[in-house]
Amino acid sequence: MDKKLVVGNWKMNLLREEAREVSGTIADLLGEDYDACQVVLVPPYTALEVVGSRISGSTIDLGGQNVFGKISGAFTGEVSAPMLADAGCKWVIVGHSERRHILGETDEQIREKVSISISCGLKAILCVGETEAQREEAIRRSEDLLTRKKLLFSPIKTQIESALDSLDQKQVSDIVIAYEPVWAIGTGKNATSLEIAEIHQYIRELLAEIFPGLGNNVRILYGGSVKTGNIVEIMSVEEVDGVLVGGASLSADSFFRIINSVGG
Ligand code: PGA
Repeated sequence: MDKKLVVGNWKMNLLREEAREVSGTIADLLGEDYDACQVVLVPPYTALEVVGSRISGSTIDLGGQNVFGKISGAFTGEVSAPMLADAGCKWVIVGHSERRHILGETDEQIREKVSISISCGLKAILCVGETEAQREEAIRRSEDLLTRKKLLFSPIKTQIESALDSLDQKQVSDIVIAYEPVWAIGTGKNATSLEIAEIHQYIRELLAEIFPGLGNNVRILYGGSVKTGNIVEIMSVEEVDGVLVGGASLSADSFFRIINSVGG
């Protein structure tokens, strides 16, 4: 298994000067040779270049927040995997719940995005997670353990099976899965350690079922209201290989503290 991973997803925040400042402070605080965990900054497209140049010479990687499922062509407003790589990205987030639920991305589109990203040499962070209604329905049926588990796991099963459908075992090692319960994103509510452990274990089992020779090579992150106050508890869950951080990555100070808790 590779090092633990801390990804800062800035979403639609920070103008270039702010992005330069935050990324620069994080790079300076970590120092050039930081290697206790892998850090990835994921700014909006407009700030990729300034952040890329500010973190160059550090061990921090750059990532894109989204990608289109074709190499090039007449797709106004979209950005391709080769363009992200050309802008210095090594990583890309695919299937974030805001894209699935606010922007209507389908499992089919997400499969294309994963596949094209991997074939262009990017590492894909595939986001999966259940909605509040799906979790509540599973809780309502908790007297029947099998039904409860089936209801709880089924959205995640569908999202993972669909996204990885066209990949072989070698390509899957370029994937990271981020479990992000939709109800925990940007809400201040985070899943408990038991809830996180249950889903992470399930994802690990599912991957082993689909790719029997894969071993533990795929990192599984947790995301959803990760902050300085809960990072220690989240990282105490054995199955958690890192975190995807939104709001708390916008401040250099809180993101640095989160990184340090993960790196140990
Ligand atoms: P949050 O976002 O940390 O602000 O909840 C996480 C994410 O959307 O990746």
